Formats: sequence, C-alpha cells, structure tokens
Amino acid sequence: MRHVAILTAAGSGSRLGSDRPKALVELAGVPLVVHAARALVSAGAFELLVVTSPAAAQAELRAVLAAAELGVEVDVVVGGASRQASVSAGLAALDAWGEDTVVLVHDAARPLVPADVVRRVLDAVEQGHSAVVPGVPLRDTVKQVDERSRVLATPDRRSLRAVQTPQGFRLDVLRRAHAEGAGLSADEATAATDDAALVEALGLDVHVVDGDHAALKVTDRRDLALAELLLAGAL
Ligand code: CTP
Ligand code: MG
Repeated sequence: MRHVAILTAAGSGSRLGSDRPKALVELAGVPLVVHAARALVSAGAFELLVVTSPAAAQAELRAVLAAAELGVEVDVVVGGASRQASVSAGLAALDAWGEDTVVLVHDAARPLVPADVVRRVLDAVEQGHSAVVPGVPLRDTVKQVDERSRVLATPDRRSLRAVQTPQGFRLDVLRRAHAEGAGLSADEATAATDDAALVEALGLDVHVVDGDHAALKVTDRRDLALAELLLAGAL
C-alpha cells in the first residue's frame, strides 16, 4: 500500500500562551512542526505530507518545512475551525489518491513520537486493520462525573487507554468517517477530538497498538519544558 500523512498544525496554541501558532514554537531551536514531520518521515516511506496551517501562517510554514529538507513532497493547506475540520481539509488535498493508500494523521503538537510507534501503526494498517491508534495505560484513576461534579462511575483502569497520534487508516475509511461526521466540525466544542472516534461512529473496529509516553502532546509551557528535557536525553 502507498503511504501518505496529514500533519495537523492549524491550531493557535491558546493554552501554550505563545504569540505565534503552536506548530511554529521552537523546541531546542527547531519548530514543533519540523520535529513532528521528521519523526514521521524517519519512520516510514511517505510519498506526501499534507500539513494543515492557520491561514495567516501558510507562507511561514511552507518556508520552515522547505528549509528542513524532509525529502518528501509537502503540501501546506489552510485548516478549519476545529481539528476535525482541519483533518477534513487535509483529506480534500488527497482526493486523487486511491483506496490502496494508508493515511496517518499526526499532530504537530506531538513532536517526539518515536519511530517505533509510527511503524507499529503503519504495520497494523498494512496487516488489515482499517483504523489503528497508539495507546498507553492510564496513570491516574478516571472518574466519570455529571455536570454537578458528582461521580457517576469509576471505569476499570485496566480497560482504559490514553490515545495518541499518529492514528492510521485506510484512506477510504477515513474519508467515509469524516463525510459522516462533518456536521460536528464547525466548532471545537462539538467536533471529534480524534479521528478514530469518527470511525467508531460508523460502527467499525478500531485497533490499539502500544504507544509511548515520549509521544506526549505539548499543550502548555510545562509540556514544552518536559519535551526539552526528553529531547536533551535528560529523562
Ligand atoms: N489543530 C488544527 N486545526 C485546528 C485546531 C488544532 O490543525 N483548528 C491541530 C493543532 O495544530 C495541533 C493538533 O491539532 O497540532 C492538536 O490540537 P491542540 O493540541 O488542541 O492544539 P491547539 O488547538 O493549537 O492548542 P489550543 O487548543 O491550546 O489552542
Ligand atoms: Mg485545540
């Protein structure tokens, strides 16, 4: 199967509190989006990387990705009002690709995903799973609560996974999932927070492979500091 990737980088990074889009914020002098792109291309033979961008940052994103000399074709498209809408915009750029394609969707906000994780996701799709997510066991006990903060349930932690990206799909399955779920995407409050949830809504199976805590998502300053330490080999 042929391999392509959508790298989501169209968010503003409001929780990071930076004055520029999060994807362009630097980790050890290199923009997060470049770390994430390198992590993908070092792990698999991708033919095309579609990167979603804030409208105002398209030129700058193109420039930093070109300067990174990734050795793969890169297409930078403007994202949407939610992550889900951005992935949809990325999918539109893959219109010409046939069904025999594996698409990985990865967040620029996860700059340090190990190559092993990317390969496990790719391999599982190649082996016949049409939707694959990397997951790690939870470290905290999780409570389900109601709107008044009353605990409703304590799911058995052993049956829970915190899921990461890249998530991998047969291209036709991801297309169908986004087409069916498109009505949710206008606002982050209603949108799916990951692509697998849209596949689950179709009633299709999603398979979990081992993720890695190193694939942490950079959400706030603390995460960025932790990522710096991981990158420096200090942890
Ligand atoms: N993303 C996107 N399009 C959006 C929103 C998010 O492509 N409309 C991307 C982000 O660039 C990021 C990934 O989705 O790589 C995960 O989103 P998140 O961590 O929430 O990043 P931001 O939305 O940028 O951050 P915040 O929610 O703090 O504003
Ligand atoms: Mg966000």
